[in-house]
Amino acid sequence: MVRVDPLTPLIGAEIFGVNLRALSERDIVAISDAFAEHFVVFFRDQSLDDRTQRDFAACFGVPQQFAFGRPVDEAVPEVHAITSGGPGPKVANADIWHTDATFMATPPMGTILRAVELPPGGGDTLFANMYAAYDALSSRLQAMLDAMTATHDFTKSTSHRQPRHTDFPPVSHPVVRTHPVTGRKGLFVNRIFTVKLDGLSDRESEVLLPFLCDHVQSPDFQCRFRWRPGSVAFWDNRCTQHYAVADYESRRVMHRVVIDGDAPR
Ligand code: SIN
Repeated sequence: MVRVDPLTPLIGAEIFGVNLRALSERDIVAISDAFAEHFVVFFRDQSLDDRTQRDFAACFGVPQQFAFGRPVDEAVPEVHAITSGGPGPKVANADIWHTDATFMATPPMGTILRAVELPPGGGDTLFANMYAAYDALSSRLQAMLDAMTATHDFTKSTSHRQPRHTDFPPVSHPVVRTHPVTGRKGLFVNRIFTVKLDGLSDRESEVLLPFLCDHVQSPDFQCRFRWRPGSVAFWDNRCTQHYAVADYESRRVMHRVVIDGDAPR
């Protein structure tokens, strides 16, 4: 029996009673429904490897080979590792609120993250509901933002800084995105990749864009997930942002797969 336990009224739910290695059609429908209602869903005590993580992603769309992620297992190019902590260089960029890969013309619709190696404490991930962030703005500001686009560029991100990737020139997306499935509007600018609000002067953009990036960080829109061995998260990049808390010293290794998305409208 599938059970869905919401983490907060606004975002996040834990799903129990499913084995992600052996999903029935009914399980997939139950997960899709919970995903549409809660925007990020979590699973405990799973035993996925890279191949079965990729196969799980394929139940919901087309897993992609992420241009900035190196596969761990060449036979499963869709899955890459995000490693931080330990003696190596700290990958700090996930501790900034963001939506994955909005520098792409068609950013991923969803991401599936699996805990592989965890620090003894810390390293939680926070998620925020971008419908709620949009709804909390005044109708005057909503109307202005509804008509605007913003430029996104991966070179703003320190962890993506490498020789210019000609496949990804700066791209404009609507500031307010209409979700292709729910039809709801959500804020679609983030601190890692959004560089400018189009059509405003530099000074105007320098004031309004940080305001919006601060606004999405309100605890009113959030849930927080504590990882354990065997935990898996699946989130909707079209209506959420996330933040990985960097409050640990030892190694944290997560394996990630992203699912193809469409052009934001
Ligand atoms: C990510 O930003 O996609 C990774 C989040 C995390 O490591 O918790």
